[in-house]
Amino acid sequence: MRAWTLALLLATAACSKVPEKASAAKPAEITFDGAEVTNASALIAHGNRLTQVLGCKGCHTPALTGANLLDDMPQFGAVYASNLTQVVRHDTDAQLEQILRRGVHPDRKQLWVMPSEVFQNLSPTDMSSLLAYLRSLHPAGSPTPPPRFTKLGMKFISSGKLHPVAELVSQYRSKPSVDLGPKYAFGRYLTSVTCAECHGSDLTGVKDLEPGLNTPNLIVAGGYSRPDFERLMTTGVPVGGRKLKLMGDVARERFPHFTPHERDAVYAYLKARAELPAD
Ligand code: HEC
Ligand code: HEC
Repeated sequence: MRAWTLALLLATAACSKVPEKASAAKPAEITFDGAEVTNASALIAHGNRLTQVLGCKGCHTPALTGANLLDDMPQFGAVYASNLTQVVRHDTDAQLEQILRRGVHPDRKQLWVMPSEVFQNLSPTDMSSLLAYLRSLHPAGSPTPPPRFTKLGMKFISSGKLHPVAELVSQYRSKPSVDLGPKYAFGRYLTSVTCAECHGSDLTGVKDLEPGLNTPNLIVAGGYSRPDFERLMTTGVPVGGRKLKLMGDVARERFPHFTPHERDAVYAYLKARAELPAD
């Protein structure tokens, strides 16, 4: 039995003496499509899809055996997106969940670059299938080292341009994107675990995501027709066919792994958000 089912049963039991209408039904959990599977292989397949749409495979490599993200910039140091096939051999599920939701590592004082600030929003069911998929990996390659920063890298950090992940987790939590009610809740959920990583927790855009690269307020999506949005999300080509610096590659690699229904929901939420009266 899932922990949250148990919690719900206990809560219902505790409420059994209060009048009927006070025990309001728990709203259905919002998850990616296809999360409500029960057999182990379907759960693992769902977790595998999540590693694609959430970008784990972009940073940790398609085989999840890890890579140095600062390969091109050794003057700053070396930050490995870890070899996850090795990590899952010694971490418990609880430790993995602490890393993914809190940016808290069992041994290291700080965690860097790993986008736990958005993964904290993953539903319990999506998180379980992600962990089930990680558990299904066979160990490969060798363990990757913890981050190492050069003097220049440390200077970059102390200038406030790079924050420890745990700090970002609380920043993101305190500034969520606008809630447009149940009709748009699914789209809001999906953007909170994907787009928010680069467009900011409230989707209003980020200055200097990388030196010289800004992301726009996702109000821009309001100017897209649904077919143009589909083209951006599945092929990386924006309206007007311009060449994008980063978004094109990100979209092409990650967002074809959304279901069409999920892309509908992302679009509907962003469109409704863009049409809010300015205040
Ligand atoms: C933007 C790049 C990026 C993305 C996307 C990303 N990670 Fe990471 N991840 C990292 C980096 C870098 C580290 C090492 C951070 C450190 O040690 O300070 C890391 C560390 C981890 C760790 C801790 C490993 C250890 O060495 O103990 C786990 C577990 C993990 N990532 C899982 C995931 C999962 C699962 C996803 C997708 C849901 C994901 N990561 C997405 C960059 C990324
Ligand atoms: C890994 C970072 C990253 C993620 C994740 C990301 N974006 Fe972007 N996005 C960018 C950057 C950077 C730009 C600025 C354009 C460029 O790449 O040069 C951009 C631009 C855009 C644009 C404007 C395109 C135009 O017409 O100029 C739209 C629309 C957009 N993103 C939608 C999304 C949506 C929707 C999501 C989530 C489903 C998302 N992005 C997730 C980095 C990201």
